[in-house]
Amino acid sequence: MAEPLVVMEDVQKHYGDFHALKDIDLTVHRGEVVVVIGPSGSGKSTLCRTINRLETITSGSIRIDGAELPKEGKALADLRAEVGMVFQSFNLFAHLTILENVTLGPIKVRGLKKADAEKEARALLERVGVGHQAEKLPAQLSGGQQQRVAIARALAMRPKVMLFDEPTSALDPEMINEVLDVMISLAKDGMTMIVVTHEMGFARKAANRVVFMSDGQIVEEAPPEQFFTNPRSERAKDFLSKLITH
Ligand SMILES: Nc1ncnc2c1ncn2[C@@H]1O[C@H](COP(=O)(O)OP(=O)(O)O)[C@@H](O)[C@H]1O
Ligand SMILES: [Mg+2]
Repeated sequence: MAEPLVVMEDVQKHYGDFHALKDIDLTVHRGEVVVVIGPSGSGKSTLCRTINRLETITSGSIRIDGAELPKEGKALADLRAEVGMVFQSFNLFAHLTILENVTLGPIKVRGLKKADAEKEARALLERVGVGHQAEKLPAQLSGGQQQRVAIARALAMRPKVMLFDEPTSALDPEMINEVLDVMISLAKDGMTMIVVTHEMGFARKAANRVVFMSDGQIVEEAPPEQFFTNPRSERAKDFLSKLITH
C-alpha cells in the first residue's frame, strides 16, 4: 500500500449547535482516488472544505503529507497550494483571460516568472483540451471548457492532492463527459484525488474506493463495484435506489 497522504482522525465539525462532521476517520493514500457519495446535506462539501481549511474543525486532526494543517499565514497559503480544489461553480476571474487565470497563482504564490508561468499554463491548457482558448475570456467558453480551465488552474499550483466537489453537477449533460475524461486521465497519471460526485461511471472507471456519507458520518467504504452492486448499510441501499430511479 502507498503511503498515507491525507489523514483525518476523529474529526468533528460543528456549525453552532449543528454537528456537521461526526467522528471522521479517513486516510487517502498517495495516488489513490476516493469518491465521496451521499445525500444532499450529508457533509460532503464540509469534508472537502476542512481538508484545505476553508472550514476549521472543532476537534480531531487532519494531516497532509505528515504535517498538521497550519492555522494561518504563509504556511496556510502554502497548504492551499498543495491542495487543489475544483468546485461546482468554476469561479474563474471574469475580467482575466484564460491564460491569466491559470498563471495568476503560480506567479503570486509560487513566485514564477511570467514567461515560465505562461509556458506551464499553456501546457496544462493543452492537457485539458483548451490550448487554443488561452487568449479568450471565461464568458467566451462553454461551461465544460471553463471547468477544464478550473482544473488546469488548480494543477498549475502543483498540488499533492486534488479535491473535486461535484465538478459536473452545474454542467449541461453533453459537457459532463469532457470534464470526467480529464479527471480520469489525471487519475491514470497517479494524481491523488478526493471526488464528491454521483457519477457512477466515473467512480467505476477511476475510483479505488467509494466513501458513503450520511448525516455527517462515514457510513460505509468499499471498492466501487462492491459498493454499487452490494451496499451493506440500509442508508446506502436507500440512497442508491433513489439515484438509479431518477
Ligand atoms: N456555513 C454553514 N453554516 C451552518 N450550517 C452549514 C454551513 N455549511 C453547511 N452547513 C450544514 O451542514 C450540513 C452539511 O452540508 P454540506 O457539507 O454542504 O453537505 P453536502 O455537500 O453533502 O450536501 C448541511 O445540513 C448544511 O446545511
Ligand atoms: Mg455539497
